[in-house]
Order: sequence, then structure tokens, then C-alpha cells
Amino acid sequence: MKEKLKLGIIGAGWPGQMHAQAIRAGGEANLYGCADLDERRRTAFEKEYAPEKSFADYHELLQDRRVDAVIICLPNFLHFPASLAALEAGKHVLCEKPPTMNAAEMKVLREEATKRNLVYFFSRQFRFTPAMRLAKALVEEGRLGKIYHAKATFVRSRGIPVGVGNWFTEKKRSGGGALIDIGVHALDSVWYLMGTPRPSSVSAQVFRNFDHLVKVSVFDVEDAAYAFIRFENGAVVQLEASWAGNLPDDVPPRKYFGRELINSTIFGTKGTVRLNPLTLFEDKNGELVTVPLAAKEDEPNGFELQLRNFVGSINGESEPVNNADQAVALMEMIDAIYASSSAGREVPIVAL
Ligand SMILES: NC(=O)c1ccc[n+]([C@@H]2O[C@H](COP(=O)([O-])OP(=O)(O)OC[C@H]3O[C@@H](n4cnc5c(N)ncnc54)[C@H](O)[C@@H]3O)[C@@H](O)[C@H]2O)c1
Repeated sequence: MKEKLKLGIIGAGWPGQMHAQAIRAGGEANLYGCADLDERRRTAFEKEYAPEKSFADYHELLQDRRVDAVIICLPNFLHFPASLAALEAGKHVLCEKPPTMNAAEMKVLREEATKRNLVYFFSRQFRFTPAMRLAKALVEEGRLGKIYHAKATFVRSRGIPVGVGNWFTEKKRSGGGALIDIGVHALDSVWYLMGTPRPSSVSAQVFRNFDHLVKVSVFDVEDAAYAFIRFENGAVVQLEASWAGNLPDDVPPRKYFGRELINSTIFGTKGTVRLNPLTLFEDKNGELVTVPLAAKEDEPNGFELQLRNFVGSINGESEPVNNADQAVALMEMIDAIYASSSAGREVPIVAL
């Protein structure tokens, strides 16, 4: 029998723990090692998930020849150097979102992964949720007809993250604010459902109005972003993302983050699908019919299915649901949203 892959997790915060739980639940790979500078977090992680090896410095984990692949859950500014070092050490990479801080960095990773024939994958557990998989199946069977518009939403009223060392609100360590943190989830969800068309231009504006809500020494990123993206196939996307805002009561209250809504709606000539609550709005001989849909919630969660896809891709058993090409295009859209906001006008998105 083939030996199970040995995985290392770098960064032991919430996403690191979600990936560790997915490894434990799925059983298709072994959690071999972990790395985190923060001793308290590292010790708690070791106690709960019992990796064979544990390091403060992730470079030591990368030097371990027994490690096949790493899952990178570090602050955004470390995604590029850690992913590059991992690829250079011959490890397959699953990196948390955003893939990098910009498209130029991601392009370097794409070249490195291609040159070394390694799997590069960016973490997007939302691509694997039951609702998303059902919606994707409807799109693929042509039930929506031609997709011409999508609305991507990830808004919070009081949900500004800070992170260990307050890196989330500092541009040089985060790459940006609400857009690159949660807008990237919303954008990728609709873009994936649309079949990842090539983006062509964007008009956007980002804002910082709520920096008084958290106590940090540097807050130089946006807390909200709004964008209108055009694609070469003629389709358009409207994106809204916020960490903070005085949101109305059609955005439901949550335990954390004040009010919060995560949603994707894909509009097609034959039907429209909305993920939350999952519903199809379908044209039946000219009449608009509402079709409630039920996704199976008792299946493995998004992190577990994502891990299965990543491991299957390394083993040559599955087609990866995302890849470095998509990560480059996603970062091109993020770069262009910031560029449009600074310029105060629509900007083209040119492939790097
Ligand atoms: N997929 C998701 O839904 C999701 C959710 C939350 C965060 N994330 C992403 O995960 C990443 C981490 O976010 P977080 O909320 O856990 O941040 P965090 O600040 O809470 O945790 C980062 C961890 O990295 C460790 N670290 C920092 N520098 C290190 C280094 N040089 N070597 C080893 N360890 C180091 C810190 O000690 C800390 O434990 C971010 O990129 C974020 O965007 C994804």
C-alpha cells in the first residue's frame, strides 16, 4: 500500500487548527509536523493534534526531508516567502488566502511550482461547501443558461481582525484590509461558479471610516471595498466587502463580528442561484419560479473536502479544484481594485 503523505502545518492559529482537524477527520494523510513562533500556541497545538515534530522556525520544518507538503497559515506578508521556500525545498504547497499580497509575487510562485512539477493550491474551503457544490453542479448542467452577472457579498458591521502582533490592519504586513482578507473569499466564490472567466477591467472604491473601533498603532488599510468587475466574456461582478459599517437589519446578527452576511448570487438567462439561503430562481415558460434547494449538511466539511482534493492532486488521483494560474488571476483582480480606487476611475486588468 502507498505510504500516506506527510504534511506540515505552518501557523497554529484558527486556520491551522481547521486544517489539522481536516487531516485527523479524513485520514488520507498524516500530520507530521507543525511550526509556530508563538510557544503558547505551538504547545496547545502539539497537545491537541500530536504532530511527530514541532518547530518554532518554519525553515526547519521545510528542511526535514520527510515532509511531502505544507499548509501555510501565516500572516499574509509571509505567504510569498514561505510558499517560495517550501517549493524550493521540494514541498507541495497549500497556502491560506490571500494566495500572496499581489499578482507579481504569485507569478513567481507559479513559475517555481511549474518548474519543479509541484502542486500549488490556495486554500478556499468555501469552494467545497455543500451549497457551493450543488450550485456548481447546476451551473455545469446548464440550468442557469448563460451567466451574465454575479453579486459577491462578505460584509460585517463590527468585525475588524487584528491578529497576533496586530498585522491585519498594517498594509505592509497584510497587503490590504477587508478586500484582501474577506473580499477575496466572496470574489473567488462567484468567479469559481462563473467558470473563472478572464477579467478585463474594474472600477472600484475602498474606504477607511471605522479605524476608531480597534486599538492598534497602525491602521492604514481599508475597512470596506466596493467593485464592479468586467470579464472578457461580457459578464460582470458586483463585489461588496466590509470589516465594519453601520449595516441595516437585513444583515443578520452573529455571535462575533456584529452583523455579518456571506453570500453569492449568480444570474443566468435561464435561472439565478443564490447560496444563502440556497435557492434557485428559475424561468419556466416565462414565469419566475422559486425552487428551494437543500444541500446535504452532514457531509465532510469544506476544509476536509479541500484537503482530500489537495492530497488527491498530489497523488495524481484528482483534478485540483484550483491552481496557481487561478491564484495569479485572482490577485490581478485584487491589485486592479486597489489601483482603480487610487486612480478614481476604471482600470484595465492586464494579464501578467
Ligand atoms: N480560510 C479562512 O477562512 C481563514 C480564516 C482566518 C484566517 N485565514 C488566513 O490565515 C492566515 C493566518 O491568519 P490568523 O487569523 O491565524 O492569524 P494570526 O495572527 O492569528 O496567526 C498567525 C500565526 O502565525 C504565527 N507566525 C507568525 N510569524 C511566524 C513565523 N515567521 N514563523 C512561524 N510562525 C509564525 C503566529 O505566531 C501566529 O500563531 C492569514 O493569511 C489569514 O488570511 C484564513
